[in-house]
Amino acid sequence: MKEINILDKTFRELITEQEINSRIDEIAKQINSDLAGHDVVFLGILNGAFLFAADLYRRIKLESRISFIKLASYEGTSSSGSIRELIGWNEDIRNKTVVVVEDIVDTGNTLERVFGELVIRKASGIKIATMLYKPDAYKKDIFLDYVGFRIPNDFVVGYGLDYDGFGRNLPSVYALIK
Ligand code: XMP
Ligand code: MG
Repeated sequence: MKEINILDKTFRELITEQEINSRIDEIAKQINSDLAGHDVVFLGILNGAFLFAADLYRRIKLESRISFIKLASYEGTSSSGSIRELIGWNEDIRNKTVVVVEDIVDTGNTLERVFGELVIRKASGIKIATMLYKPDAYKKDIFLDYVGFRIPNDFVVGYGLDYDGFGRNLPSVYALIK
């Protein structure tokens, strides 16, 4: 069992680099076939999705574009809790089929926020591609079209995901040892 330390925590390998690569092959093949003839824009959600987006997109054969947005979370000055603004839009997605590319879908809050914005901006179709999915944590009903791996409700790092900013460069996915 491969174990690593990041800062004060220990993690154990959950998904290997080879497993990730062959799963992305399958997902790309599926997207290439499902979305043939569509006007497609891939939309990566930074920071976590940058590796998955790159690895997926290099396997895409559709004439398409890719763009990235980021969620800026900050506490509101009023008592309404955290406000999450989507920044970095530079792509007109009106009448396009948008493939949202996420590193992980956990509670689904992020996804719901992005999905709502795509509806407002009048995307003609919305597909969701996520490398990881925590079914036990997911609280929304947005359908996840392309899921790399369903994982237990444990904190994970690697392959774009971080612990306090570290671990994004790990080529496989590691789960926190409790
Ligand atoms: P929600 O709950 O909005 O979460 O679906 C999505 C975002 O939260 C981050 N996230 C994680 N990051 N290990 C991480 O490094 C995890 O286990 C984890 N779970 C959620 C991530 O940024 C994701 O986009
Ligand atoms: Mg993320």
